[in-house]
Order: sequence, then C-alpha cells, then structure tokens
Amino acid sequence: MSALSRRTLLKSALGAGTCLAESGLASLVTGNSAKAQVQLLEPVTTQFELIPGKPTQNIYSYLPEGPAPVLYARQGEMFHTRLVNGLAEPTTVHWHGLRLPNDMDGVPFLTQPYVYPGETFDYRFTPPDAGTFWYHPHCNTLEQMSFGLNGAFVVQEAEDPGFDTDVVLNLRDWRLGSDGQFISLYKARKAARAGTYGTVKTANWATSPVYELPAGSLVRLRILVSDVTRIYRLAVTGAEATVIAKDGYPLSEIAPLKEASIGPGQRMDLVIRMPDEEGATIDVRNLSTTRPWTVASLKSSGLSLQRDVREIRPLPANPVAQPDLNSAETIRFEFTATAEQAPKSGYCGTLGFSFWAINRRPWSGVSPDPMAPLAELKLGRSYIFSLLNRTPHSHPVHLHGLAFRPIRSNKRVLPAHVTDTVLILPDEQIDVALVADNPGDWLLHCHVIEHQKTGMAGFIRVI
Ligand code: C2O
Ligand code: CU
Repeated sequence: MSALSRRTLLKSALGAGTCLAESGLASLVTGNSAKAQVQLLEPVTTQFELIPGKPTQNIYSYLPEGPAPVLYARQGEMFHTRLVNGLAEPTTVHWHGLRLPNDMDGVPFLTQPYVYPGETFDYRFTPPDAGTFWYHPHCNTLEQMSFGLNGAFVVQEAEDPGFDTDVVLNLRDWRLGSDGQFISLYKARKAARAGTYGTVKTANWATSPVYELPAGSLVRLRILVSDVTRIYRLAVTGAEATVIAKDGYPLSEIAPLKEASIGPGQRMDLVIRMPDEEGATIDVRNLSTTRPWTVASLKSSGLSLQRDVREIRPLPANPVAQPDLNSAETIRFEFTATAEQAPKSGYCGTLGFSFWAINRRPWSGVSPDPMAPLAELKLGRSYIFSLLNRTPHSHPVHLHGLAFRPIRSNKRVLPAHVTDTVLILPDEQIDVALVADNPGDWLLHCHVIEHQKTGMAGFIRVI
C-alpha cells in the first residue's frame, strides 16, 4: 500500500472521531462497524507549531500533521494495529499498562525485534481491562519520546458508563529554544538528579488549550502524564472533580479531587459536571512548581444538559486477580544511585552514563544479549515486591504486563488501588502485591526516562 493511500485510510478513520475535532485533538474510534479494520500507526518526522509562528522541525508523531491519535479499543475485544515505521531509525510500540501477551509488549530484543525503517509490525491483543492507558516507543526512548512519540490508549468499558463526552489531556513538555527548535534533550548533571525539564509545557501539544463542552454535561477527563521527567501536582478549580480511576484502574472508593501527584506514565480519570451557565470556565492547574500554571481549561457552552453526577454508573472493577498475602513470597527491589558516573558507549538509546541502579545493577536499556532477570517468578503465584527508594528523588516505578496493588508504605496511608506505575517518594518503601499470572519477561523501570536510560531498569521473568 502506498504512503498516500495509508494516509487516506487513517484520515477516513479520523472522521469517526467523537469529540474535540475543532481543538485539533485527533481521535480514532473503533466503532462496531470498524471492528475488522486494522488501524495504522505510522510514525513519521514532521513539523508542528508548538510555539505560534515558529514551527518546530524534526518532530516525531504517529500522524503526519499533529499529535498522535487517541486510540480506542473495547474491553474484551480484539485490537489490531499495524506499525509502519516511517522514521529513519528503528522503533517499537509499547502499550503502557496493558496486560497483554509478552510478544506484543514492544520491548526490542526482550520481546520483539527492532522494527527498522520501512518495516511493519502487527500488534494484536485483547485488552482484559478498561481504562486510560497509553502507547509509546521503547527504543531510543528518550529521543523518540522527547521528539513527540506517544499517545493515549483508551479501552472502553464493555458497557457505556454514561458520560456525555470523553476528553483526553496528554500532558508533556518540550525542550525547545526561543526559536522553537529542539535544544539538547537532557543535561547529565540533571539526569543524575530529578531529570531535565522541558521548556514548553503542553496539553495535547497546545499551551493551556480551552475545550468547549456542553453546559450541564458530564465529562470524563482522562489525564495522562506522558512527559519524560515532570511530576505534576494537579488540582481543578471552577467545579468539583471526582477521581474515578487512577492508572487505568477504577477506584473502589471515589472521592473529590483536592490535589494529586501524578508522575510520568501515570493517569487519572476525573468526572466533572460542567456548570449550567454558558461561558463558565474550569481550570486544570499544575501546582508542582513555584509558578503554577493552567494546563488546560474546559468552558461550558450552550443550553444546560442538566445532567446529574449520580447518573453515572460506577465503573466496574477490572478482572485483576487477588494476591494471597499469606502465601506470597517477598522480593526486594532497591532503587539507588550508582558510583560510576563516566559515560560508556551506548546502544538502543542508552545515554552512556550509569547514574542509577536496581538492586545495585545499572541497566541502561535492552541489548541483543539481555542480562539476567532481576527475579524469576512462578506463574500463578502471589508475590510482594518491596520497592525501596534509597534516593532523595521521587521515582515513578513501572512494571510491564502485570497489574499490582500497593499495600503499604513506610510514609503514608495508601488507598486501595490497582496500578502499573507507582510513584515512590524519597526514602519511601512501598510494598506492592501481585499474582504472577502473565508469563514472559517484563520490564521494571523508573519512568523518568533519563533515570531509566542511565540504569534504573531491569526485568523480571514469569515462568
Ligand atoms: Cu511506559 Cu517501559 O514503559
Ligand atoms: Cu526515577
């Protein structure tokens, strides 16, 4: 198929987008009619005006003219997408938070070969869980993600919970100079600390975008922090927001949002009822810096739909197995800094430095000859992972392929929850419980990509 007809196909799929077309938020919707259709994901090098009037060159996107599509799948139904690599370097797609077969996990060398320029790879899986997930490359990750590659992946509940609109906010920074062009993606001395922040802060590739939504309607706001570094502390002003899910998994006890810290890789789903009066504005604010800013706003328009939050059916729990804490074996994973700080030659986008380690072992990425797993788990058994942060920085620790339940912390009370990425505070120990019910080699790494790529990564093997 020619590039042109591929693009036409993608565009016609875009025509089925449900909301926010005018805001430039591209969305792909798999309706029942489109079930048999293969969705194409074609990363390309392009340009985009992140700063008005100063188009940034050499942006990477899964679409030729703007941010990656929000991909939609339905819980329990086969999802099929074809990666067509239009970049000048190898890539893969990792489906962050999805419990899928190991060979669909998108980690080069560990679970699949590189997809070289011009090559294709078919990803096919049936998501067991509904919720807000995302997708991104797992190859030369700091560059490919910093240049733009990532998108939200929404798995819709088998039964519609009854929202009027579903809005995705994909939050990330860009390291651009005042001319709008990329500057160096990281600084080594920052990579050895909290990480290097971007200079231009965006939601869906726009600076503080405003989305018009029907007055009195019920909005499901799916917030994704896809940034490579920044930990957000989010609050909503102008209306009450209720947290209904975190990291894709519905909360058993929903609660109004006061503030929530969300690290790279994490998600939060809110329900917001738009005010009845036309023109009222709701702001999503980030408070994690000395100069808080509005990441995005929602503005009510038209006659009130008069919806009531109580009309939303509670989200059904995802079918995640309950670990047996009595028989669970405990495995310790210590997240530390390393002493070696001189760069070595790198591969697959390692930065060449090793600043960080898990269980004293720095691993900068994947290699054709992967190192031994950090731990071997028996299929079907319950485990407790003791995650110990021995550093003065927070680390959003992500495990591929398995969902886990944080059960205790030495620092705070953790609400009952299921997740794939847990934010571990400085000197915190969090114990998480899981059933090793998905066979394969699964990465465990910090999602501050500079930390991942300078050693804070490893994998576990379930057999
Ligand atoms: Cu978002 Cu290794 O993952
Ligand atoms: Cu980290």
